[in-house]
Amino acid sequence: MESGREVKGLHVITWGCQMNVYDSARMTDVLRPLGYQSVETPDAADMVILNTCHIRDRAAEKVFSELGRLRLVKDARAAEGRRTILAVAGCVAQAEGAEILARAPYVDIVLGPQTYHRLPEMVARAARAAGAVIDTDFPAEQKFDFLPDAQAPQTPGGITAFLTIQEGCDKFCSFCVVPYTRGAESSRPVDSVLREARRLVESGAREITLLGQNVNAYHGEGPDGRVWGLARLAESLAAIPGLARIRYTTSHPRDMEDALIAGHRDLPALMPFLHLPVQSGSDRILAAMNRGHTAAEYRDLVLRLRDARPDIALSSDFIVGHPGESDADFEATMQLIRDVGFAQAFSFKYSPRPGTPAAGAPMQVPEDVKDARLQALQALLRTQQDAFNAGTVGRVVPVLFTGRGRKPGQLSGRSPYLQPVHVDGPDTLIGQIAQVEIRERYTNSLSGTLIQERAFA
Ligand code: 5AD
Ligand code: SF4
Repeated sequence: MESGREVKGLHVITWGCQMNVYDSARMTDVLRPLGYQSVETPDAADMVILNTCHIRDRAAEKVFSELGRLRLVKDARAAEGRRTILAVAGCVAQAEGAEILARAPYVDIVLGPQTYHRLPEMVARAARAAGAVIDTDFPAEQKFDFLPDAQAPQTPGGITAFLTIQEGCDKFCSFCVVPYTRGAESSRPVDSVLREARRLVESGAREITLLGQNVNAYHGEGPDGRVWGLARLAESLAAIPGLARIRYTTSHPRDMEDALIAGHRDLPALMPFLHLPVQSGSDRILAAMNRGHTAAEYRDLVLRLRDARPDIALSSDFIVGHPGESDADFEATMQLIRDVGFAQAFSFKYSPRPGTPAAGAPMQVPEDVKDARLQALQALLRTQQDAFNAGTVGRVVPVLFTGRGRKPGQLSGRSPYLQPVHVDGPDTLIGQIAQVEIRERYTNSLSGTLIQERAFA
């Protein structure tokens, strides 16, 4: 039997961050030569991959309950004589590989984020073996040297795409599992990034979001043999004909170098919307979190960014109730939010992750205190987000159209600030940027009218 040519169903379930969305697409690519094609449901799949996220609370429990459901599918297929290879990937697999195999012995493959390029070999081993295959190494070889480049954008319509340029983190914030699950910080060489970006643009992408756990710590080997930072990489990407918009996420305030700030001034393709997590506005808590900067340094950084690009808008992550956080510390966070003004933000109650320094720290904050702080913080952030969205009404903004809207004759696109925008317009504008006057604002989107039908690239 030519098993390499036989068409097999692959169903990938993706949880967590954009990096996981990208990784799922890469795993799909690497399995294609083995005959795997994406299918919509697990019961049509010869292989199911659950790509997991460890950041959220009770991450492992959610994985086990999903695996319980997938087991039923696997058993039902087995009763019809069809085999299903069940793989668990991502950060929960990395952190809890042995536990997964102990509690869910029907899982065939457990693989960490650094070994996706070895997936075909693991599938072959799983197909042969009775037992499970586990690979949660941090291999010496770099997976990007072995993975095929992204062939096409991962998002429906293909106008926007993700591209991973950097992985891992050496910062060891007190609360975070990433340095343990994604490993040490490493950057892809410039040539490999540019090649993949060109291919994405050739297949229709107009916007690329560069991904990395610590994306602005990027330090890839350049074609000149020197180390390139993110600013220089962005400059080369901006020169690719047809690539209209560049974004990057997630950034650390400590790595926001002058050259990158200048890039926001000099490169029109670099979008004026930056996710720059601060986590807390209290110097005591920032120190306890091991963030490596003060609240004043963050405020100063924001001033310098706004100086370089006056229309830049900021987004952030916040944690309330980190061990040791007093009322005064929390108030310092609220004050920082009032001072800076955020267009958007994600906020979380601190929740201990086993193995991280904060999990064992004294002075854990009671749950009801965390609840109250989170409510107050989210109310303030909501007011700011509403004010930001309201501020766009009546303004003219460039919108990149990504597809049709829900209503006939309607187009859907994104503002520079990632706000969804709907207008009435012709399909020929999909993939183009056009000027839109924003007329109305809804809870999660804006609507407006085209003020010039002629698209400009
Ligand atoms: N508890 C609460 N929030 C966390 N985050 C990461 N780890 C934890 C944790 N243990 C949040 C941080 C980070 C975002 C991705 O998730 O704010 O920036
Ligand atoms: Fe986690 Fe980000 Fe801190 Fe790294 S910089 S340890 S990824 S929170």
